[in-house]
Amino acid sequence: MTDGLQGLLEQKVSHLPRGLQEHIARVVSVAEHLSRHHGIDEEKTKLGALAHDLARAMKGEDLLRMARELKVPVHAVEEQVPVLLHGPVAAEMLRQQDGLDDDTIHEAVYWHSTAHPELDAAGKVVFLSDKLDPRKIDRYPYLPQLAELAESSLDRAVLDFLGRELTALFQQGSLVHPVSVETRNHLLMAVGGESP
Ligand SMILES: [Fe+2]
Ligand SMILES: [Fe+2]
Repeated sequence: MTDGLQGLLEQKVSHLPRGLQEHIARVVSVAEHLSRHHGIDEEKTKLGALAHDLARAMKGEDLLRMARELKVPVHAVEEQVPVLLHGPVAAEMLRQQDGLDDDTIHEAVYWHSTAHPELDAAGKVVFLSDKLDPRKIDRYPYLPQLAELAESSLDRAVLDFLGRELTALFQQGSLVHPVSVETRNHLLMAVGGESP
């Protein structure tokens, strides 16, 4: 159903706060570049990027309520850090309320905050494009290196990002979502044997 999806997503995005709309536009543009560069379905990564933050402006309590309504499994870490649910809630709203039937787009939106071991190439592009928004340089000072890595290997770039972010979360004494650790282990084994 990707035919009418772009218009629907654009219409939904137009109701989001301006700063978020601008972030989404930058993510779409990075996703277009990365998918073209790696020969990945551009339409799907673009739609995933367009949809990824549809629930980002929702308050934590609303995300928890929507997650229950949509029967999204809520992990104990997500109970404590409900912002982690904005991907799952957006993905399930699109599937259950708007008839999204494309698994690649659904998974890309669902896992764009934590990543997931099963993410396909388009999902990895959406995940990385979200982090590679040039305005995130203050948050991720290593962004230029990550951008370079994303050109040569999506797996290595996701692995590098997760390594840095999980280390930072551990150092801050913050909660860590286990699926991010699982994704890192999975990628580490997948690229195993080669130097990082
Ligand atoms: Fe997000
Ligand atoms: Fe985002």
